[in-house]
Parts: sequence; structure tokens; C-alpha cells
Amino acid sequence: MRPFRTVLVGFGAIAHGLSNDRRMATHFRYATHAQVLRDHPRFDWCCTVDPDPAARKRARRFGAGDVVATLDEAQSRHAPEIAVIATPPSVRIDVLKAFPALRGVIVEKPLGTDLTAARHFAGACMRRAIAVQVCLWRRADRTLRRLAADKARKLGAVQAGLALYGNGLHNNGVHIVDLVRMQAAEILAVRALGPAVPLARAPIRGDVALAASLHLSTGAVISLAPLDFRHYREVALDLWGTRARRSFDQETLRIVDFPRVANRGLESELEIASDRPHVYAPGAARAFYDLYSNLAQAVSNDRPTWSDAANALRTEEVVASILRSARRDGALVDLPGQ
Ligand SMILES: NC(=O)c1ccc[n+]([C@@H]2O[C@H](COP(=O)([O-])OP(=O)(O)OC[C@H]3O[C@@H](n4cnc5c(N)ncnc54)[C@H](O)[C@@H]3O)[C@@H](O)[C@H]2O)c1
Repeated sequence: MRPFRTVLVGFGAIAHGLSNDRRMATHFRYATHAQVLRDHPRFDWCCTVDPDPAARKRARRFGAGDVVATLDEAQSRHAPEIAVIATPPSVRIDVLKAFPALRGVIVEKPLGTDLTAARHFAGACMRRAIAVQVCLWRRADRTLRRLAADKARKLGAVQAGLALYGNGLHNNGVHIVDLVRMQAAEILAVRALGPAVPLARAPIRGDVALAASLHLSTGAVISLAPLDFRHYREVALDLWGTRARRSFDQETLRIVDFPRVANRGLESELEIASDRPHVYAPGAARAFYDLYSNLAQAVSNDRPTWSDAANALRTEEVVASILRSARRDGALVDLPGQ
């Protein structure tokens, strides 16, 4: 099959910069878009766009195809079929407008600067039948996919949980909320616990730290709490099911089940063996690459992607609802469409 003519829009940290982090490389065979585009046979990386001359210089040095400053140049010279959108969230819809031949996009989260912009982007993709793969990369992690499919058997119904994130609700908060939806159950309502605290040095401008309760379709409540990454990083989820406890920690690079066993203190009771972990092999190493393979299949076979726009919108709606609750002094906010 002929590879898709592909443009990379934005050549910053997630597009290429993180490739240079040697610690990250020990866990992620593919940590950036440039690494996948260099290797993946279904994508012909013909062009890279970035208005920043320093970024263009780095792109030329890497071998990022024809490196140009504007979307218009990329369109007139390559008419891309696939766009990888690795820019700040203000640059999303412009990419769709610039490339009329698009069949698919890989787009960084969030889908827009706010929910209205995100819906606008998702709607435009749907109207033009453009397949969307949102870079919530845990949706392509092989271990996480397997556990999500098998959660009823091994974990049982989630009774309670704790979700931790840092560096901003719109940044890692989006990832952990999406992981709750993937690994526990759909979130039907939220309540902010305390005020939204502005983060001066957050990667996304205007981002905040905010605690919340996430109310699941099962009736269970997950506590969501921010950590200050100046002390250490963590993006983690600890779920207490009816059959086992399941922990995703060290930014989901360590995934562990704690089985249900005979209680050590009472003959007729059971307990969770928190001292006897069953550790799963992590699946993050190739998740980025697999996001691309899945998009190629979706475009070729007209099938849904693993991390589509509707899913990402739902996750962004949860985040927007937490912020709305904070503005209403912690009132319970039901999610739209439920
Ligand atoms: N999925 C993840 O785990 C993950 C991780 C990090 C960042 N991100 C997301 O990726 C996006 C980019 O983040 P980053 O950290 O790489 O940012 P960055 O600032 O390092 O890079 C963004 C690049 O986009 C370029 N750019 C700006 N406007 C442009 C335009 N009109 N056309 C082309 N290029 C343009 C900038 O010059 C810059 O080189 C953000 O939405 C962020 O939230 C996602």
C-alpha cells in the first residue's frame, strides 16, 4: 500500500525535543512524533511546518522532509493526506483549513484552547470524514488496553480510587481523567474540592491545580488530587475493585494488581494482598507507534480509531465541568448528554 503523504505541524518538545531525553528513551522506544515518522512504513513524512527559525533549523538537522515556515507552503508543495498537529492548542482548526486533501490527523491534546474550540475542531473533522487520533497515548498502550478490556473479570466493579496528577489540569489532568474513564468507568458528574490554584510555570498557559471528586456510572467516587511537580513527578491511579486492587503508578510505567486473598486476621473474611503485587509488563514503549498504525488502519478501512475525537471531547468535558464546579463553589455538575 502506498504510504500517506504526511506533514508534521510544529517541531517542539513532543514533536522532537523529548527524543533527546535519555531516561525517557529507556522506557519509550517511541517518545516523539519525529521518531515514529522516521520509522513508520505507512507514513511518507514529506514536510514539516514551524514558524520558528530555530525549530526549522533543528528539523532540517533531523531530516524532517521539506521544512517550511507556513501551512500554505506545505499545501502547495505536498497536498498532505495526513497532518500530525504538535502545536500549542491555539493551532488546530487552521491546519484543517489549510489542507483540503486531509484523510486523517494525529492531534495533540487538548483539541482546542477551550471546549467550544475543541467541539469546533471535532465537528469539522466529522463533516469532512477526517479520521482523528488524539494523542492520549495511554489509549494505545498494549497493557492498558488489555487490562481495560478485562477489568470486569480481574478487577471487578470499582468501589473507590485515587487519581493523582501535576503540572496542570489541562495538561496531565486530562491524561489521568481519560485513564479513569478507560480503566474504571464513565464519569457522570464531578465536584471541585477547593479553589482552582493558578500555576505560574505550567506548560499550558493559564492552567490550574484543582482537586475534585469524579462520580462514576457504577456509583463509586474517585478522588482526584494535584501534586506539585517541584517536589517530584507523578501521574497515578489506584483503583479498589470488588475482586482486586489495581495500581498504575510511576506515570503508568508500573502497573500492578493486588489479589483478593484470605484475611490474615479473621478466618471467615477476605483482604487485598497489598504486600503481594502481581506486576504487569509495561506497554508504553511502542504506544506512540501503535497510535499511528491504528490511524493508518482506520483511514484505509474506514474504521474508528482507538482515541477518537468523541472520546477526547468527553474527557475535555469532564475537565471543563470540574472548572465549572469550582466557579460554583463546589456544586455537583452533571456531565452533558447524560
Ligand atoms: N500527549 C502528550 O503526552 C503530550 C506531551 C507534551 C505536550 N503535549 C501537547 O503537545 C502540544 C505541543 O506541546 P509542546 O510541549 O511540544 O510545545 P512546544 O512549544 O515545545 O512546541 C510547539 C511548536 O509548535 C510551533 N508552532 C506554533 N505555532 C505554529 C503554527 N502556526 N504552525 C506550525 N508550528 C507552530 C512552535 O514554534 C513550536 O516549535 C500541546 O498541545 C501539549 O499539550 C502532549
